[in-house]
Amino acid sequence: MSEVNDEKVKLENIKPDKSLRILTGDRPTGRLHIGHYFGSLKSRVELQDKFETFIEVADVQALTDNFNDPDKVKRNVKQILMDELAVGLNPNKVTFLLQSMIPEIAELTVFYSNLVTIARLQRNPTVKTEIAQKKELFGESVTYGFLGYPVSQAADITAFDASYIPVGEDQLPLIEQCREIVRKFNSIYGETLREPVAVISDKSRIKGLDGNEKMGKSLGNALYLSDDLDTIKTKVMGALTDPARIKKDDPGNPDICMVYYYHKLFSSDNECKNICEECKKGARGCVACKKQLIENIDKELSPIREKRHYYEEHEKEVMDILMAGTAHARETAKETMEKVKKAMKLDY
Ligand code: TRP
Repeated sequence: MSEVNDEKVKLENIKPDKSLRILTGDRPTGRLHIGHYFGSLKSRVELQDKFETFIEVADVQALTDNFNDPDKVKRNVKQILMDELAVGLNPNKVTFLLQSMIPEIAELTVFYSNLVTIARLQRNPTVKTEIAQKKELFGESVTYGFLGYPVSQAADITAFDASYIPVGEDQLPLIEQCREIVRKFNSIYGETLREPVAVISDKSRIKGLDGNEKMGKSLGNALYLSDDLDTIKTKVMGALTDPARIKKDDPGNPDICMVYYYHKLFSSDNECKNICEECKKGARGCVACKKQLIENIDKELSPIREKRHYYEEHEKEVMDILMAGTAHARETAKETMEKVKKAMKLDY
């Protein structure tokens, strides 16, 4: 049933096809930051014109490691959606859906759970890393729900018959696990489900302001799409620069400077070239360099902030978009359920 047999493709290499669907999702556990923006939101904006696009707010998945804080998950459903709308995802083109309102996903998860072994889930590198990071929550033994979230994610993907899944590199083991479940399902019950392909972009991981390989809320090194100018100023002023540079005319090494790293994301090629040359010669101070960066970040983020502000003032509109999208998406999930039940001889 799959038109495409590669496990993953590069964003630049996929051919637009409005008859194919892409699906991606986020756990609503916090606001989106510029790591999400460069790593995935920008490509979503591009893809919305090339494919039928479904974006899931994965609140059920968020509960697998936040089951003790349902308020946090609920609050962030709206926040995530506002961020998505603010960056230019157009609700007339994109179907936004809320996972907990599609019961077919939960039902598929139960069916698929027979097709996966516990050992295979425990070997999933993404799950393994996450369990190690969540020792405090899980103690000595992880929950059944968390260990099984890749099965639920396979249900997310197949419920909507998605062909392409744009994700960061860290999600590849989950897509692989989904492909295995699909193959197993099809081999036992007959060709029913489509095997999805991951779509990867180059900038799938943006470093934090402190130079950490990962930007994240818990690491305290993130720049949020909703940050105001004062917050941006404070954060950029505190960013890591070449520690060997003490005086303004000391020659610097831009390759180890986070300010330069961010200039490469927000400033023009020409500006970056000058910055690099001047820094190496000791002809540019870090403070001036940071100020220029703040200006360029603000140029990119202020229209996003303004749009977000509109949605903050119109929360009902945000929820209406989510509810309408969910109702639309559920139609596809129901069709899938019918096919699945027929294949599994549960069609009473
Ligand atoms: N696991 C993803 C993350 O943590 C979120 C997600 C849920 C997802 N369902 C999905 C991603 C389906 C792609 C497809 O970011």
